[in-house]
Formats: sequence, structure tokens, C-alpha cells
Amino acid sequence: MIDKKKVGGLAGISAGETALCTVGKEGAGLTYRGYDIYDLAENATFEEVAYLLLRGKLPNKIELDNYISRLKNMRDLPDQLKTVLEMTPKESHPMDVLRTGVSFLGNIEPESKEFSNQATIADRLLASLPSMLLYWHRFHQDGKKINVATDDDSVSGHFLHMLHDAPPSELHRKTLDTTLILYAEHEFNASTFTGRVITATLSDMYSAVTGAIGALRGALHGGANEAAMELIEQYDTADQASKGVFSLLEKKQKIMGFGHRVYTTSDPRNSINKGMSKILSAETGDKKLYAISEAIETVMWNEKKLFANADFFAASVYHFMGIPTYLFTPIFVCSRITGWAAHIMEQRANNKLIRPAAEYIGPNLQAWLPIDRRS
Ligand code: COA
Repeated sequence: MIDKKKVGGLAGISAGETALCTVGKEGAGLTYRGYDIYDLAENATFEEVAYLLLRGKLPNKIELDNYISRLKNMRDLPDQLKTVLEMTPKESHPMDVLRTGVSFLGNIEPESKEFSNQATIADRLLASLPSMLLYWHRFHQDGKKINVATDDDSVSGHFLHMLHDAPPSELHRKTLDTTLILYAEHEFNASTFTGRVITATLSDMYSAVTGAIGALRGALHGGANEAAMELIEQYDTADQASKGVFSLLEKKQKIMGFGHRVYTTSDPRNSINKGMSKILSAETGDKKLYAISEAIETVMWNEKKLFANADFFAASVYHFMGIPTYLFTPIFVCSRITGWAAHIMEQRANNKLIRPAAEYIGPNLQAWLPIDRRS
């Protein structure tokens, strides 16, 4: 017997198997290929996590060094793609820019019909998504055609170097790196599931990733980090924020960055992001944003028993590092490409078309009505 309440949005429905990730599993929590997220956030680099997701094991020293060089060599963009990015309007949302960038790259570096180059495409996208994003951003904001093939060893260093025209401090690089680890994978979330549905039709990897970017863009999914920042910035003091959010709740408004489809009492990624936000607020001397964020968190818990998810404190973390708000969700893309690509490859390894059934709630069979008898 199907629980109709749960079928709404497929909540609680198992839609397939994965060996990549557990989310809120009893006794395990959030794990990537069996490794606890707290261990990964504390000890791993994002490149190690990417390798783990895409290659199925943690790399040894030689494998990691080779993988870092491989990604560095894949950063540069073809001239045709640079032209497309220059032609994409300044006013575009950068999520749309990435969607277009991935789709265009699929035309000039297409996937083979046998998918034999799928691992290369995954690495290529991982290495070049930050290049696409920052090339477009710097071209339209500063009128500069930046060199995207920087010599930084990490994706996080590459990203911040292109954004600020200088290599980042180790604190900022490590902080961004940790958020990339936290965002890398999350089982059958909406964008990953979108990617798997597209993949299951035997479509190509670029199409699956383009669709996944579209799904991630919305405020109920990845777009929540930008929406959270916009909310936090509306207030000048913690007290004002408490009152403001209380009144939004009274008006039955959703507060972005809170709640989760799977977690019920907390999001394990939040404590890590919150800790980093506190450190950066001390570093920048800006205690306002952190205090406001904490005040909102308290009201949400006291009034609704809703907890901050990964997106809420990620917002102030990124802000403290001088990252413009409209680049927050694209950073999620630069990380989640690892999870998406791993799921695409997992789906292909044991493929079956994903095509659920629907419960029909429309009219009963009706007699055909000629046009002159219609109201
Ligand atoms: N702010 C205020 N109320 C919220 C809320 C939020 N962030 N999240 C859930 N609720 C409330 C709903 O209004 C609803 O109340 P009701 O039963 O009185 O109508 C109830 O909690 C259940 O919410 P619902 O949206 O149906 O649950 P869901 O499982 O479909 O939602 C989310 C999961 C993530 C979509 C939801 O919590 C949300 O919209 N959060 C904000 C967006 C966000 O941060 N997304 C990123 C997720 S990582």
C-alpha cells in the first residue's frame, strides 16, 4: 500500500541503488563511499574526494600527484568557448552561463558514442567549470580576458586566484576547499536524480550535467545559499534579524537555508560551515553577519524546530572571502560535478530507463466535442 502523503515529491521513496553516498543513514550519517564526512572535511583535500568519487578509491600519493597535474592541464578553455562566454550577457545569471558553457563544450569536445571517454569528460568539467565561470565574470565585470590556466595546485586555489587576480591565503583556500568537499555529493538529491534520469535514456554526459545545473539553480535546492545571503544582508543587527524572521514565519514564508527533505534534526555539514564562518568573521573583524546568522538560526529552531542546512552558513563563509553572492550557487556546481559524474557513470554501469508511473486524477472518459459545440 502506497502512503499517498509520502508520494508527494517522491519523499521517502527509494528510486534505485547507489554505492556512492549515504545521507542520514542510521549509524552512518553522511558518507562518501563509506568515508565519514567529518573525516573527509578534516583530513582530505577536494581533489582526493573527487578522485574517491570518480575513481572509487582514495588515491595514493603518486595517484594524487598525477591527478592534480591532470586537472591543472585541463583548465584552459577553447577559444570558441571563450567567445561564447564573451557574448553571453553581463546580466545573465552565472548558473545560466555554466549551463550554456557545459552545453557548448559538448559540441566542440563531444562524448564518444560508446561513452569510452566519460572519465575524461568528468575530469575536464571538474577542471574547467571554474575557468568558464570566472572567465565570464571577469570579462564582464572588469573587461579583462584573464588567464584561466593558472598554476595553482587545487581547484579552490584556482578559483580564488582567478576571482581576485592573486593566489589566496591558505586560510581562504582551505576554507573554500572544505566547502567543496561538503557540497561534492548527496545521494539522490534533485539535480543528481535529474542527471540520472537523463543518463538512463542513454543520452550523453554533457546533457545530463546541463540538466543537473538547471535543477540545482532553483531556490529550493542549490539556489538557497544565494537566497540565504540576500536575507541575512537585509538586517543590521541580530535583534532586527530575530524580529524580521519571526514576522516572515508569521506570514508563512519559507526561510531559505533551513530544513531538509531527508535530515530531520540537523544537517551534519552545518556545524562545519558554521565553525568556518565564525573563524572568518573574526579574521575580517565583521561580527555583524555571523551574529545575524546565529540569531536567525535560533529563531528558526525555537519557532519551527527547523535547522540550518549546508547552504545557510556557506553564504556568510563565501561572503567573508569576498565572493559575490551570485557566484555562490555556481560554486556548488564546481563541486557537485564530482557527485553528478560519479552518478552518471554508476547509472550507466547498471542502466535501466527511469520512467515512473503517475496516479491519474483527471476527468473520466469523455465524448469527443466538435469545435462548434464548445463553450
Ligand atoms: N522555512 C519555513 N518553513 C519551512 C521551511 C523553511 N525553510 N522548510 C520547511 N518548512 C515548513 C513548510 O512550510 C511546511 O510547513 P506546513 O506543513 O505547515 O505547510 C513543512 O515545514 C514541511 O515543508 P515542505 O517544504 O513540505 O518539506 P519538504 O520535505 O518538501 O522540504 C525543503 C524540504 C528543503 C524543500 C524545505 O525545507 C525548504 O524549502 N527549505 C528552504 C530551501 C532550502 O534551504 N533548500 C536547500 C536544501 S539543502
